[in-house]
Amino acid sequence: MEAIRWEHDSLYLLDQTCLPAVERWLRYTDYREVAQAIKTMVVRGAPAIGIAAAYATVLAARENCCKADFPAAMSRAKEVLAASRPTAVNLFWALNRMERCWQTFGLARLEAEALAIHSEDIQMNEAMGKAGAELVPNGARILTHCNAGALATGGYGTALGVIRTAHAQGKVSMVYADETRPLLQGARLTAYELVRDDIPVTLICDNMAGYLMAQGQVDLVIAGCDRMAANGDFANKIGTYALAVLAKHHGIPFYTALPSSTIDLSIPDGSHIPVEQRSGEEVSCFAGVQTGPVGVRTWNPAFDVTPHELLTAAITERGILRPPFDQKLACQFV
Ligand code: MRU
Repeated sequence: MEAIRWEHDSLYLLDQTCLPAVERWLRYTDYREVAQAIKTMVVRGAPAIGIAAAYATVLAARENCCKADFPAAMSRAKEVLAASRPTAVNLFWALNRMERCWQTFGLARLEAEALAIHSEDIQMNEAMGKAGAELVPNGARILTHCNAGALATGGYGTALGVIRTAHAQGKVSMVYADETRPLLQGARLTAYELVRDDIPVTLICDNMAGYLMAQGQVDLVIAGCDRMAANGDFANKIGTYALAVLAKHHGIPFYTALPSSTIDLSIPDGSHIPVEQRSGEEVSCFAGVQTGPVGVRTWNPAFDVTPHELLTAAITERGILRPPFDQKLACQFV
């Protein structure tokens, strides 16, 4: 399964706002429209928005290649794309890598660089799948949150990549997918991916996870990651922190799976991660129907930050990192 394609000089995105009811691909030839697609979550998930931004940089270069002020035009395009979503560092990582590419090699290499970012991401997911599956016991019942699957990446997935590999090894007896309010990435996207792949999945509301753990029904939790700071604190979809606290209380291992493009060693800890605030309507409405009183105050952070103390291990393409995370991250990801 894939959500991003580059064909005939155009970017195609599977519109994730309509899934699972409607599978429709949208075509993009203008980088500004790609920025809008990232903002409105046609494409979402940390690695996927980095990949989309890389292809958008190719579109910007095509548009501006004949202009005398090409560098200034490219800086403006980068600013527009960088302003689309603030939390996942993959977006900025990809934009910086594309900028270094055109500054060093000119335009000729840009398309190849975007394609490389895309294919490297799939390879990293497969490597994480292999490494992470070692942590999965036979007959495992795994809880996951939001969507860290093929749809959120170049393909295969980070947390769902681990689950896919462990399932292929016959070790998964059940995946519990949190629905993930307010935008339901767990219900709409994770459950959809797992049903399509014939991996056993049970959909639960977010507020059921604690009781599920108390019933002894969860052997491990695996979530994705949008940005990991130098000390191992990490941002992921709102609700991840609560799951980590619950897992600690119940003595359940709690893992995050992330490629190196999600690690931000420039910030010392999670307090420096910018957390996106989204429209209150996502909270006061459900599927377009007003569920709270009109005019009610809302609070809608799209992510939260889980302190590294709650993390059992981080699954990366270079293997499993256990505490102390600051030393391991500094050694392996400089
Ligand atoms: O707001 P979203 O849907 O972009 O949030 C996505 C997540 O929080 C994922 O868990 C994260 O990006 C990791 S995806 C491999």
